[in-house]
Amino acid sequence: MWLNLISQLSGTSKGDRLLDLGCGTDASKQLVARGYDLVSGAYRSDQDPIAEAEYKAWFEPLGEELPPGAAVLDLGCGCGIPTSQLLADRFAVTGVDISRVQISRAASLVPRAKFIRADMTTVSFPTGCFHSVVCLYAMIHVPLAEQPALISSIHRWLRESGLALLVVGSRAWTGTEEDWLGVSGATMYWSQADAQTYRAWFQAAGFDVLDEVFVPEGTGGHQKFLMRRA
Ligand SMILES: C[S@@+](CC[C@H](N)C(=O)[O-])C[C@H]1O[C@@H](n2cnc3c(N)ncnc32)[C@H](O)[C@@H]1O
Repeated sequence: MWLNLISQLSGTSKGDRLLDLGCGTDASKQLVARGYDLVSGAYRSDQDPIAEAEYKAWFEPLGEELPPGAAVLDLGCGCGIPTSQLLADRFAVTGVDISRVQISRAASLVPRAKFIRADMTTVSFPTGCFHSVVCLYAMIHVPLAEQPALISSIHRWLRESGLALLVVGSRAWTGTEEDWLGVSGATMYWSQADAQTYRAWFQAAGFDVLDEVFVPEGTGGHQKFLMRRA
């Protein structure tokens, strides 16, 4: 059913490439969706050469391994810049995001990709339908208790030997911040495990970890994992 839905998003106009399934009723998901609706522009403008250069290097393994036109899922795609845009140069990209503003900007800014507004923990795709799943700085907004099942879903959606590129937490922390990024009324929620826990969850789901790197940010940072569906 889901693959059919993706293939139905086949027109070239923005409306034909964007499906809105809402953000669900869960309080933490609604907080995140509303938060990103408010901070979308403050988080990332329509062009971001610094992030683009950094992410481009991260995507090299995908470029080297995947055939042109490969199906790639960008989970928590944000405004589409730079991930969906960079990957859509070569691959068939589907972006998923819970924020109405983020996904609407993505559909405008990346005309070659398809987009679905949905909660990544409830959206569903057929087994083995993607060559690669990319999820950068987005799983860390999903309550910890839901993350192992989401990791299993990502594993299931990948073809055999498919690649997953995920940026997740490095240090365990769950909490909220008010007026995030200086935007009045924007409350944001995070929930993240430490790197060791993520590594154990990935291996338990059936991933082989190919590469693992700490990505510094301010006084902390995140953990980037490149993995293969075993
Ligand atoms: C920090 S931004 C990262 C955006 C993009 N991946 C990047 O690296 O530039 C996190 C994104 O994940 C989305 N997100 C958070 N929780 C989500 C969920 N449960 N389902 C889908 N998207 C979610 C947010 O709306 C936001 O756009």
